Amino acid sequence: MTAEEAISLCRKLAGYTEEPGHITRTFLSGPMHDVHRELTSRMQRLGMTVMVDAVGNLRGFYPAQNQTAPRLLIGSHLDTVPRAGAFDGVLGVVMGLALVESLGGKRLPFGIEVIGFSEEEGVRFGFPFLGSRALAGSLDASCLERRDANGVSVADAIRSFGLDHAQVPEAALPKDARAYLEFHIEQGPELESRGLPLGVVEQIVGQSRLIFCFTGKAGHAGTTPMRLRQDALAGAADWIGFVEGHALSVPGLVATVGYLEAQPNAGNVIAGMVRASLDVRHADDALRHLAVQQLVEGAQRIAKARRLQVAWEQRLDQSAVAMDASLVTRLSASVKAAGFPVFTMPSGAGHDAMIVAGRVPSAMLFVRSPGGLSHHPDEDVLQADVAAALKAGLHFIENWGGNLD
Ligand code: GLV
Ligand code: MN
Ligand code: MN
Repeated sequence: MTAEEAISLCRKLAGYTEEPGHITRTFLSGPMHDVHRELTSRMQRLGMTVMVDAVGNLRGFYPAQNQTAPRLLIGSHLDTVPRAGAFDGVLGVVMGLALVESLGGKRLPFGIEVIGFSEEEGVRFGFPFLGSRALAGSLDASCLERRDANGVSVADAIRSFGLDHAQVPEAALPKDARAYLEFHIEQGPELESRGLPLGVVEQIVGQSRLIFCFTGKAGHAGTTPMRLRQDALAGAADWIGFVEGHALSVPGLVATVGYLEAQPNAGNVIAGMVRASLDVRHADDALRHLAVQQLVEGAQRIAKARRLQVAWEQRLDQSAVAMDASLVTRLSASVKAAGFPVFTMPSGAGHDAMIVAGRVPSAMLFVRSPGGLSHHPDEDVLQADVAAALKAGLHFIENWGGNLD
């Protein structure tokens, strides 16, 4: 598969969407079946054995020269944010297929398992990494009981997709797995600003996700005097401004309120209740925790001043994760051998590698994002950069050898 073909496969998969005219494919939604069908037939043509595990991860195995050989995992996710671009996640899975294809049937001293994780974004259940958590063996009963906006639990979603949640433990990492490699678009401006096609990830920053609920009193927009209102939306708006101002004042901190739901959400009714998300990230976990505490205190202060109630729930507290030093060195050597400058960098975005790294040495290769754009329909890649990643990836797998020396 050439870089051009890899890009056109990503664009084809983008057509499998819940929302016509947009790319939206959340955890175990109908179009995920279409993505699985398309990738399964391509994997089978490459001599891979394919299955969908109990959490909906698509897993294709390309066997080694001998059955007792170790295994290299190459993966990323197949779910998307709402109204996404065509490359976040999907490119990493397509890269795995392209690398297997470029072996032209040659068997290596290790097997390669290409994994299309079912869920990384956390959109449907407000809780990310369901696919990689199952692989890491950390998708426990409490995760399966989480509910989406329609009251459907993770276990129900698994059942409706035709899978059996009782078999989730069997999705766990095979014992022969020795390393995990994830190709991904950078999703930010660093590589482009330096004129570089590729970046080797050294560390993935930690993230916190919370959900807040501001409660006031709904009322008539025409008759309720301003001084008597308990406007939950005005309170939430005040707090959102505070969140932005606070993040601007702390170097390296990013904080985002990206989800807002007002009730009853009518133009002539004062909002009685607002639910708002909060996403906080910093390379330093202690500073991230401090920021969360300060943003919670800000919400309490604002709510009190406006006679609102505020409640919050922590959905995620994911620590920063370092990539495996030996794999980072190997991957850097492969980038160099492929003829490209080596640049190591942190990742501000979360990735399946954060979770897999807890179980098996992991590394990531970033591909430049034109305009630094991601989580946006215009998200793109340059063909030459995908070709560069393929060349570096091929060097990596041809030289890895199946161990960590
Ligand atoms: C995943 O895209 C994230 O939110 O970092
Ligand atoms: Mn994403
Ligand atoms: Mn991603």
